[in-house]
Amino acid sequence: QSPMFDPRPAALIGIRYIHFTIQRGQQSDTNQVGLKPGPFTMDSPDVRKCSLSELRHVFPGCSSHEELYKLSINETDLFWGTLARLRLRWNRDFERVSDCNMEKGSFRWFVGGQLNVSVNCVDRHKEKDPSRVALIWEKDEPGQEERVTYGELYTLMNRVSNVLKSHGVRKGDRVAIYMPPCPLAVASMLACARIGAVHSVVFAGFSAEALASRINDAEAKVVITADQGVRGGKLIELKKTVVTAVEKCPSVQAILVAKRTGNPVISSPLDIDLDEAILKESGECEPAVLDSEDLLFMLYTSGSTGNPKGIVHSQAGYLLYASLTHSLVFDCKEGDIFGCVADIGWITGHSYVVYGPLANGVTTLLFESTPTYPNPGRYWETVQRLKINQLYAAPTAIRLLLKYGDEHVEKYDLSSLRTLGSVGEPINVEAWHWYNKVVGKEKCVVVDTWWQTETGGICISPTPSAPGSEILPGMPMRPMYGIWPAILGEKGEELKGNDVTGALCLKKPWPGMARTIYGAHSRFLETYYRPFNGFYFTGDGAVRHSNGYYQITGRMDDVINVTGHRLGTAEVENALVLWHMLNPIEINTDDQLFVPQDQHPSVAESAVVGYPCSDKGEGVYAYVTLKDGFPADTKTESELRGIVRLKIAAYAIPDVIQICPSLPKTRSGKIMRRILRKVAADETDNLGDISTLADPTVVEDLVTRHRTLK
Ligand code: WT7
Repeated sequence: QSPMFDPRPAALIGIRYIHFTIQRGQQSDTNQVGLKPGPFTMDSPDVRKCSLSELRHVFPGCSSHEELYKLSINETDLFWGTLARLRLRWNRDFERVSDCNMEKGSFRWFVGGQLNVSVNCVDRHKEKDPSRVALIWEKDEPGQEERVTYGELYTLMNRVSNVLKSHGVRKGDRVAIYMPPCPLAVASMLACARIGAVHSVVFAGFSAEALASRINDAEAKVVITADQGVRGGKLIELKKTVVTAVEKCPSVQAILVAKRTGNPVISSPLDIDLDEAILKESGECEPAVLDSEDLLFMLYTSGSTGNPKGIVHSQAGYLLYASLTHSLVFDCKEGDIFGCVADIGWITGHSYVVYGPLANGVTTLLFESTPTYPNPGRYWETVQRLKINQLYAAPTAIRLLLKYGDEHVEKYDLSSLRTLGSVGEPINVEAWHWYNKVVGKEKCVVVDTWWQTETGGICISPTPSAPGSEILPGMPMRPMYGIWPAILGEKGEELKGNDVTGALCLKKPWPGMARTIYGAHSRFLETYYRPFNGFYFTGDGAVRHSNGYYQITGRMDDVINVTGHRLGTAEVENALVLWHMLNPIEINTDDQLFVPQDQHPSVAESAVVGYPCSDKGEGVYAYVTLKDGFPADTKTESELRGIVRLKIAAYAIPDVIQICPSLPKTRSGKIMRRILRKVAADETDNLGDISTLADPTVVEDLVTRHRTLK
């Protein structure tokens, strides 16, 4: 007896559905739609079976994209249950497609199912053709790329799995990975997945402080890193950062160090030479059989308050969502070379460098360099040389390259490109047109994709839509299958109809959604499910235009988006105010700054806001008040910048530091950020009501000082 699908709504909307009768250990489907009745570990022999036209074949009652979308919303379990069986290899079939409760923030997908993500990403493609290329490692110096086949990735992954096991890593243990994109980083992620460990990749641009706080929050047992990184012709001291961080991390029992440059670097008693350890281990490792809802990974992201939160994703739902969106949004098929230039330290790298493309058996790019190294033609030269079919990049990079001029693009043959994707922040119309015309020659499908670390995969994007459907510049437009957006007003009411602006929420659970914040489920509930009861609150504002399309207006909370990186203003404020709590470690910044431990803290208070910035999307604007006796000079300013780099990362460094005698506060002592945002944005004629301020004269002074900074 299968309680899985309730046929009523399907019948109501006139859609024929596939009826599965599930018995433990076997599956038979009484469908009329050509799904091969297979063994119960049903493994689609050809993952291309998920283009839009194939989807129509899977759901034969649906002849259009709109009908498929309706089905995905009205018949959620039917939709996802069918695709989960088609697209993934299971060790045990699931009993229930979903068991979700928005009020409790409890989400379970494919309940009772068992599988292994690494088997889905590697083994099944290697079985078919071990010589197919899985990874192209595009190293910093152009023309030195290395290819790794599915067969080689299989062996590498298994060897790393065995190394982890021999260092005591067991199911559920956390492993921190502090590495730029490279085959060993991917193999390490997959190795964790293979043995059921939980990876936490930390962007290799984060400082030792930031790394340590993430390792400690996760209580990671092992850290995997490399001696040095190479980016834009510069060396990055990965190992040194890890050693500094791990001094404050009692949970770490081993540091696995891979060789990237081979230069001598600082050592630690916890070091294990990863390249050597790998050679001692077997290239076979039995995959752990994991439950759908076991943890796959955690990834830290900034929120409006406090420290970054460890967003948790689980096995089956995440993989299904990443792989389906990857094939549908980008029209990516077997044989394609998919080029996502994001770092693996962000969710884009997880879903669209590693898990989505590998689950789909395509060749995926690992881009180690920058958009402008050795010159602003780097992306385009790489596309030509590697014959990349889909390019996925950030608006910041597109805006930057646009400024360098078309000649850097026109030199190269970009005819391999079919889809151009954009992600991370709103893409302005000018940049969109340039991407479409100069890069895509108006022959590519350009997709602005909206999503978040928390959503696991793309949620709003022009595609999938019927081929030839209109695509408008500068907005992600259409919800993905299973995604039901809602716009909510100030009083928490849902704004129905079109031409409405408000808080962007999602009304229905989807398989790729975050399951919790690691170790902080109540914070998870408060952040995402309490603001609007019964909805997932994204933190973003959006417009639903008169044509029904969605456009993102930006964050509604104290999170800002700097060069496509998410940054909590509270984190910067804490770095500025708490700088005296640092250990006396060497502060080695470009400014040659050194702050001894016993130096008095000079900052009394700080308030950080974002302001519109044409290059970076948003810039970081820090208002700072100093304690008595500390001079407001350029030395203080450069020390403050150094401290932010030291405590967070280079991208978080304030663009503007305005030292002022006091901040605008209400009578109850609350800083009025609204005013600070307006001043930073130069909107000083329109400051709104300032009568509730304890001292309204503060504002005039703020504005005057702001003007002198320009
Ligand atoms: C925030 C999520 C999703 C991968 C990269 C960022 C902003 C993301 C878009 C877009 C407008 C966008 C939102 C969102 N954002 N994509 N296409 N248009 N804004 O992931 O670090 O979790 O940041 O990035 O504000 O909430 P993230």
